[in-house]
Order: sequence, then C-alpha cells, then structure tokens
Amino acid sequence: MTDLPTDPDPTITPADLRAIAVEVAAAAGGLIVADRPERLHVATKSTDTDVVTEMDQRAQDYLVAALRERRPDDGFVGEEEGESHLGASGITWVVDPIDGTVNYLYGVPAYSVSVAAVTGDPRIEGGYEPLAGAVVNPVTGDVYSAARGEGATRTDRTGTVVRLRVNDVDDLGQALVATGFGYAADRRAWQAAVLAGLLPEIRDIRRMGSAALDLCRVAEGSVDAYYERGLNAWDLAAGWLIVTEAGGTVSGRGSAVPGVDLVIASGNALRPLFVEGLERAMSATDVTSA
Ligand code: IPD
Repeated sequence: MTDLPTDPDPTITPADLRAIAVEVAAAAGGLIVADRPERLHVATKSTDTDVVTEMDQRAQDYLVAALRERRPDDGFVGEEEGESHLGASGITWVVDPIDGTVNYLYGVPAYSVSVAAVTGDPRIEGGYEPLAGAVVNPVTGDVYSAARGEGATRTDRTGTVVRLRVNDVDDLGQALVATGFGYAADRRAWQAAVLAGLLPEIRDIRRMGSAALDLCRVAEGSVDAYYERGLNAWDLAAGWLIVTEAGGTVSGRGSAVPGVDLVIASGNALRPLFVEGLERAMSATDVTSA
C-alpha cells in the first residue's frame, strides 16, 4: 500500500494481536454498559451534535492502560483526548472507545467498541494497514474479530462462533445499503444529495449509527454494502479488516485507500455495480462536496 515506517514486531502474530483486541474491547464494552451513570455528563466536539460522554473518555483511558500493560512498546491512537503516539514495535493500536456515541446517549442498542492493531501510521491517510481487530457490541454481546490472513468471525454471548462471509448479491437493485452521516451541516447536505441519487437504484438504505458495526454488517451479510464520507481511522481500522477477511473489499473513491474522503465496502460480486451507482450519484449532485 504505502511505505510503512517500521516493520512490525515479528515476535507477535496477527492471531495474538486479535486475541488482545478481543479481550480489551470486550472489557471496555462491559465497562461502558455496567458503569454508565444515571445522568451522563455530555460535552460536544466538532459541532453541537458531535457528542462525547464521560464514558467515552473512561473507556479510552481503560484501553490505554490495558494495552500499555500488555504491549508497552506499541503505539496508541484513540478518538478521545489523551495519548497519540507511534511505538517502537511498529504496531499501533487504533481505538474508538464508543463508536455510535449518539446511540449510546439515547440508549439505542447499536454502539460498539472498536480496537485494531495496525502497521504504519494511522494518523496519516493511507499510511497504515490493519493486522488484527475487534468490534464489540456490548448490548447484544456480539464480538466481531479478524486477523490478517485468518478470516473473520462473530462470537455471540453463548460463545457460538460463526465464520463471516459477505453476501454474493450481484444486482444493485437488490442491494441493502448502510451509510452514515457526519456532524457538520455542509457535509450532511452533500451526503443527503448523494443518497437521493442512490436510493432509487437500490433495495433500501439503513442508517444504524455506528460505522464500525456497519462494516461488520457487510462482513456478516446483514447488509450488502456500506459507504460513508468522513470516517477516521478509529471508526474504520478494525471493520476494514473484518470485511476483507470475510471476502469483501473496502476502498476509497477510485483507486484510493479508504479514508476520510470515502469508504466503500461490499462483497466483490456487487462491487463494480455499487461503485458505478455511487459514482453516478456523487457526480450528479451539484451540492458542494464537504
Ligand atoms: C460516528 C458513527 C456514525 C458515523 C459517523 C461517526 P462516533 O462515530 O460511527 O455511524 O456516521 O461518521 O463519526 O462519533 O459515534 O464515534
């Protein structure tokens, strides 16, 4: 993909990193559910609707400490305030302590903890590649995970493990598509215009509110495709690997790697038609892209 700054630590395998990702993501998920106070303290970030709760910060602080204890030489990049550094090992943990914070705030059971181990620099667009990752929905108990070259699975709260496989639908008109919207009004105006162009061409749209879970849904086949503008590495890294290890493709626009400009995820049978349909919708809008 790109020149990576350091070769990753050869003494740890992607499978080992996956086990750590699952362990700490599940523990952070337990924390945000069990320790949620009656009245959440909420602050805002980029806009008045881009919220962060005290539990986002607490979960991230837990993840920093848990990962430092297990992997002291690795780097850490998280969505919330605090540490952001590369480590000496060539491996960096990329963490979203609550992906779907608005759902968490409202009690909609579609939020997740996303933890990925990557090589390269996740602070640079196109500068990193995921090696292992886990996405945990602490309300349903579903744990999605993958390691590079080893496939992707979902483990439910009874411990049943299912190997994930993207759908093989190859008809755009039959495709159930997930997407999401950013927090800034101008970006949302563009996203709405693109959606208006795409909607007549597909089966239907879903907006569930956690990008990491949307990617896992592509991997498990509970949607056929997902796209969104505005994702950061912490929303994306774990789910990206889970989709590719389930046999799908995740990309940006054209030949670009997935990132802030665009993330497109689907099975490979649908991909050419979905990419064309999305490109048509994006080209047709005269709303200025933001
Ligand atoms: C958000 C969610 C949402 C997506 C937004 C993300 P956050 O993450 O993943 O589904 O549409 O683009 O920012 O803010 O809840 O961590």
